[in-house]
Parts: sequence; structure tokens; C-alpha cells
Amino acid sequence: MKKLLSVVTLLLAMGIATVVWAIIEGTPHDVAVMRNLGAGAEIERCAMCHTPHAGSGQYPLWNRSQTDQTYAMYSSPTFNMAIAAGDTIGSSNYATYNCMVCHNGIASTLVNYPGSQSTANTNYDFSSALLRSVSNLGLSMQNDHPVGFTYNPTVDDENNGFRAAENYGSSGKAIFGARGTYPLYTETGNTGPYNQFECATCHSVHDTVDYAGKSMQNGVSVGTVYFLRGDNTSSGMCIDCHVNR
Ligand code: HEC
Ligand code: HEC
Ligand code: HEC
Ligand code: HEC
Repeated sequence: MKKLLSVVTLLLAMGIATVVWAIIEGTPHDVAVMRNLGAGAEIERCAMCHTPHAGSGQYPLWNRSQTDQTYAMYSSPTFNMAIAAGDTIGSSNYATYNCMVCHNGIASTLVNYPGSQSTANTNYDFSSALLRSVSNLGLSMQNDHPVGFTYNPTVDDENNGFRAAENYGSSGKAIFGARGTYPLYTETGNTGPYNQFECATCHSVHDTVDYAGKSMQNGVSVGTVYFLRGDNTSSGMCIDCHVNR
């Protein structure tokens, strides 16, 4: 016992006793939490977004569908990595499209419901009622941080001090900041170049990054926002990229 305790103390001292899980369960992205089904609910949490077979065909084994929507993209006189006129959010911007299929506030359903032969189950159907106000981004992206553009730090006229993207994983690219690692995505789903800036550049849709302040009460998150790529206390995430601001 004494030996075990000293091992635990050592781990704590080294700061590696903080376990980080790639979890959905118990977070705002857990369908049981969205539906307030209570602890121990028999529901397939991953199926809300993924299916092992017969999904939409989009990366990563995507399982939600919605009729195509038209978005007003971000623009400004000083936005240099500007989104081309007429560009849209489509399945090629999967790490944004896969968020907006719920966060635009419009109903969406599963392609393949869990169970034999896709048995419909309304628990997995999505409606705006499951979103609190600020989480409903709507169809205008003009009041949101720009997404869906090619990251190119060399075209920044205002000297924000953006960092160059570096190698990440086996073949990806990411921006490495002090508070977090911000992956870039590809328009093809499976092959590079990995240069697209999307929602998932700043957010991890599974709760994979640990920082203080995240908690749930009565089925909703209170305190610090979940799913960030890093701790944004003192705007640390913003400064990771906008180094000179
Ligand atoms: C709310 C929607 C949602 C739920 C629920 C969800 N995922 Fe994901 N998942 C995504 C999105 C969006 C991506 C792509 C963006 C990214 O890679 O961060 C992704 C990517 C992945 C990937 C590929 C990239 C990686 O991180 O390895 C795997 C594997 C994965 N999910 C597994 C799971 C499993 C297992 C579950 C259930 C425990 C789950 N997901 C639940 C939305 C979801
Ligand atoms: C299956 C639908 C669904 C998908 C797909 C989805 N979300 Fe969510 N998300 C929700 C719901 C429901 C909530 C809880 C909303 C609330 O509390 O207002 C939520 C909450 C959040 C929150 C706030 C958490 C908090 O602490 O209040 C963030 C951030 C977020 N989502 C980002 C994303 C991003 C980024 C993606 C894509 C990579 C994504 N979501 C994909 C349904 C979804
Ligand atoms: C440049 C980084 C960045 C990008 C890109 C980004 N977000 Fe966020 N998002 C944040 C930060 C930081 C917060 C926390 C803000 C706060 O604490 O009030 C946040 C908060 C949220 C919330 C919770 C809102 C609230 O106040 O409860 C949702 C939902 C969300 N983001 C969804 C998305 C979606 C969907 C996309 C893509 C369309 C996206 N975000 C793109 C940085 C980003
Ligand atoms: C992962 C890197 C990254 C993070 C994190 C990030 N940004 Fe950005 N931000 C960018 C890039 C790249 C642009 C596009 C700049 C350009 O092309 O002029 C941008 C654009 C902007 C713009 C619009 C600039 C314009 O000229 O219209 C504002 C404002 C902004 N970010 C503020 C923030 C804030 C506030 C945060 C923290 C909540 C934040 N950013 C987090 C990379 C990031």
C-alpha cells in the first residue's frame, strides 16, 4: 500500500496523473446528455455522428445527413486569406460541414440508424431545440471567426505573426502554439494538401484536450466551453496564432 501511494505521489508530482480521455460520454456531444436520458442510458453515442457501414460516404465514416444549405461566408477589408467569392461550406470542408449539420440549427437525421437494417429512432434526430442560443450559428458565418479558407501565413498584410504550419501525425499539417496544436484539414477527405482552416482547427469535437473549468449541470455545460484545442484563459489560444496581437 505504502509503495502504491508513493507511486501515485510520484505520478502526481510529475503531472502525469491527469488522465486525458478521448471521450464523448458525459459531454455536450453525448446524445444521452442532449436528450437528458439519464446516466446509464442504452444508446450508441458514436452513432450520432459515425457509422461503421452504410454511412454518407464522407470522411470520417460520416452518419448525418441534411439537405444542402447556402452560407454567407466571412469577409472583411483586412482578411487576406480570403474565401473565394461563391465558395460554400460543403462536404469538402468536412471539419466545418460536419459541425454545421447540427450547429446551423436546421433538422438533420441519421443515414444509418443503429440496429438491424437501420431502425429509425427519433433520439438520434437533431433539431434546433437541442441547441442553446449561442450554439446555434445559423447560416450567416459573417459573425463567426473565419473558417473554410486556405491557411497561408505569407499573405498576411497586417503582420499578425501567424506561424508556419508544421508536420503533424503521419502526413498532416498543424499550427503549433503554446496552448495547443491546431490541425489543418484537406478538401479531399483522404489526401493532402493539408492547408484548410476549419472549425476543428480550433475545436476538438471529442473531448480530447483537458483544461480547467469544464463542467455539466442538469444536462448542460456551465463555466468554460468544452471542445477547445487549448486553454483560452487570457485569450491564450488567440495569441497562439495572432502572435503579434
Ligand atoms: C458530435 C459528433 C461526433 C460524435 C458523437 C463522435 N464523433 Fe468522432 N468525429 C467527429 C468529427 C466532426 C470528426 C472529424 C474532425 C476531427 O477529426 O476532429 C471525427 C473524427 C473521428 C475519428 C477520426 C479522427 C480521430 O480523431 O481519430 C475517429 C476515429 C472518431 N471520430 C471516432 C469516434 C468515436 C469512437 C466516437 C464515439 C465514442 C465518436 N467519434 C463520436 C464527430 C463526432
Ligand atoms: C450531432 C450534432 C452535433 C454535431 C455534429 C456537432 N455538435 Fe457541437 N454541440 C451539439 C449540441 C447539442 C451541443 C450542446 C449545445 C448547447 O448546450 O447549447 C453542442 C455544443 C458544442 C460546443 C459548446 C460546448 C459547451 O461547453 O457549451 C462546442 C464548442 C461545439 N459544440 C463545437 C462543435 C464543433 C466544432 C463541431 C464539429 C467539429 C460540432 N460541435 C459538431 C451538437 C453537435
Ligand atoms: C479561431 C478559433 C475558432 C474557430 C475557427 C471556431 N471557434 Fe468556436 N469557439 C472558439 C472559442 C475560443 C470559443 C469559446 C468562447 C468563449 O469562451 O466564450 C468558442 C465557442 C464555441 C461554441 C460555444 C458558444 C458558447 O458561447 O457557448 C460553439 C457552439 C462553437 N464555438 C462552435 C464552432 C463552430 C461550429 C465553428 C465552425 C463554424 C467554430 N466554432 C469555429 C474558437 C473558435
Ligand atoms: C489556429 C489559429 C488561430 C486562432 C487560434 C485564432 N485565429 Fe483569428 N485568425 C486566424 C487566421 C489565419 C485568420 C485570417 C487572417 C487573414 O487572412 O487576414 C484569422 C482572422 C481573425 C480575425 C479577422 C481578421 C480580419 O482581417 O478580418 C479576427 C478579428 C480574429 N481572427 C480574432 C481571433 C480571436 C479573438 C481569437 C481567439 C478567440 C482567434 N482569432 C483565434 C488564425 C487564428
